[in-house]
Parts: sequence; C-alpha cells; structure tokens
Amino acid sequence: MQRHPAPPGHPAFTVTPLAEGDLHAVAGLTFPSYRPLLEKVTSAEQAKEQVIALVARSAGGPVGLVMASYSLLESISPAGKSTAPLNILSMMTTPLWRHCGVASALMKALAEEGKRLGLTCMNVRYTTKIESLLAFEHLLLSAGWCAPQPSMQLSLFKISDMASAPWLPKVTAPNPEYELFPLTELRDEERTRLMAGIAAGDIPEGLSPFADEEHLVPELSFGFRKGSDVVAWMTLIRSPFVPDALCYRSLFVNPKLRMANGFGPFLAAHAFRHHLTSPVKEERPKGLFGTSYTATKELNFVRKRLAPHCCDLYESRTATLPLLHE
Ligand SMILES: CC(C)(COP(=O)(O)OP(=O)(O)OC[C@H]1O[C@@H](n2cnc3c(N)ncnc32)[C@H](O)[C@@H]1OP(=O)(O)O)[C@@H](O)C(=O)NCCC(=O)NCCS
Repeated sequence: MQRHPAPPGHPAFTVTPLAEGDLHAVAGLTFPSYRPLLEKVTSAEQAKEQVIALVARSAGGPVGLVMASYSLLESISPAGKSTAPLNILSMMTTPLWRHCGVASALMKALAEEGKRLGLTCMNVRYTTKIESLLAFEHLLLSAGWCAPQPSMQLSLFKISDMASAPWLPKVTAPNPEYELFPLTELRDEERTRLMAGIAAGDIPEGLSPFADEEHLVPELSFGFRKGSDVVAWMTLIRSPFVPDALCYRSLFVNPKLRMANGFGPFLAAHAFRHHLTSPVKEERPKGLFGTSYTATKELNFVRKRLAPHCCDLYESRTATLPLLHE
C-alpha cells in the first residue's frame, strides 16, 4: 500500500487494488460501460483480457479510480518478454479531490504494476470531448508520457440531416456486376478468404468487417462483392460509449479499386439511407463517422461531403508511456 502526503486541507490518501467491498462505492468513478468489468477484477476468473483497477481512498472512502487492461494473448518478444501494452480504460477522481495529486499517484502506481507484470508500455486513447481534457493532458505530460497524437477525425451528425445531404442522390451506382449484400449473408469461403487477407496484412485488422463484431448491427452492415470476391464493406456498430449514435465503424474498399470508382461514397450513402429508415434510428438518431488521419482520400471526402451536415466535429487522440525496466 502506498501512503501519500496530505494536500493542504485534506487528510492523506492511499492507493490499493480494488477490493470486493469497494464495488458499489467506486461505480461512479468510471464510465457506465466499464462498470461490469469491475466485478471481473475481484473474481478469480481468467479472461484473455485482464483488468486492473486501483483505488485511491481517504478516510471517508474512495476518492479516485484508474482502470486498465492488458491482453494475455499478445505477443512475446524473442527475448521472452511480453510486448503487450497496458491500456488505460478510465481515470477519474472525485471533484472535491481534484488537483490534489490523486490521479498522479494512481498513474504512478499503475506504471509500477505494469512493470511488475513485465509489460512494455502504457497506452491511452481518448477523445477531445472528455470532461477534463486540459487536466488529463496535463497529467499525462507531468507523468512523463510522450505527447498525445491525433488519431481519428470524428464526425457526429443527426441521420435526418445527413440522409438529406444534396450529394447523396448524385452518387453513381456501381456497374451491375457488383452486388451489395447484408454481411449476415457472407459465405463461408468468403469469410475464410477475408481472414487470410487479414492474417497476411492485406486488410488492416482495425478495418476488417469483423472488427468489434460483438457490437455489430447486422441489418445495417453490408458487403460488396464481384462474383465471390468481397471487395468492400461498411459496418455499423452500437458503441457502448456513444449511446445515442450508431458508429460507422469500418468503411473499406480494396486498394486496387479505389481510383475513380466511387465505391466509398456509394457504400456510405447506402448506409445513411438504411440508418434513416431503420427502427434503430429511434434508439440511435445520430451517426458517428470515424476517419483515420492517415486516410487522406477519406478525410477529403469527410471534409467536403460530411462535415457541412455534422452537428459536431472532434478527434480521438492516443498517447504512450514506455515502461522502462531496470
Ligand atoms: C483528469 C483528472 C483524472 C485529473 O485528476 P486530479 O486528481 O485532479 O489530477 P492531479 O491532481 O494528480 O493533477 C495532475 C496534473 O494535472 C494538473 N491539473 C489538474 N487539474 C488541472 C486543471 N483543471 N487544469 C490544468 N491542470 C490541471 C495538475 O497540476 C498536475 O500537474 P503537475 O504535476 O504538473 O502539478 C480529473 O480531473 C478527473 O477525474 N476528471 C474527470 C474524468 C476525466 O475526464 N478523466 C480523463 C479521461 S478518462
């Protein structure tokens, strides 16, 4: 247990691993979608994704919580060391205890735990919409993290606005030898071929039609094939982090077919129309379109076609702290 000096006007606080008796008291110190994970921390269950939760507590109870996870399946380096990162899921302190060093102490304790586990670095991904962006980035800086890097441009829109954008009816229909199909009708041999493409690195794992499959909205996710060759897809997911929006998760067109075919805008327009007329629209009337800052062509499409019909534009950022082992 680490004891920390009292900030002026506050009693001291300690940092310890989450205990079973803490569950109720710390639930408000993380995002609703991570609350079920807290129970996994205190159970002996061996999952492939291990969760760590550290609690800062004063005499009056918990005042801060950090949650992080790491994969037991990720690669081991030739030297036998785990190369898995420790991913921060959430970091929060109670408002009365902010600016008192609580998050700094949690961060330090988490880094020590990461080193103890033999992990090589800590990562965090967050959006510029988080409640305390300034404070959080200050915390990263003062804890020695590398400067945060922009990762995705995020475009939030009401589907009723996007589906009535004037460019939509002008999108060219593809040559009839191409067929649009619901991803639920993906054939076994097509799945096998796509999996082989992912394994060979031809299809980035993060953009595969199987990414975040557990959150997929099957009736609104489509593939695009010529014969038995799946050349493009657009998947939509229910992200637990954006409860009123459908996330336009993976828009991918085979690189050989990207020039001048207009398949990307065709698939996006198709998804917008289906979202508008689907019953899912009642539950999630907004859409969130994420575009990597490395996808120059898609970024141009987003800036020109989507941005004028969005209600909010923001970004996600990532940051890293190498965990140096003596
Ligand atoms: C972000 C958050 C965790 C910081 O917690 P905290 O306990 O106040 O942080 P600390 O007191 O340890 O301060 C860490 C550093 O940030 C600075 N800082 C804290 N609050 C700040 C603020 N509002 N503005 C600018 N800097 C701030 C501190 O001065 C300190 O830097 P220093 O070491 O150079 O002095 C807290 O504000 C919070 O819970 N916010 C809501 C949840 C959230 O947005 N979490 C982030 C992503 S999950």
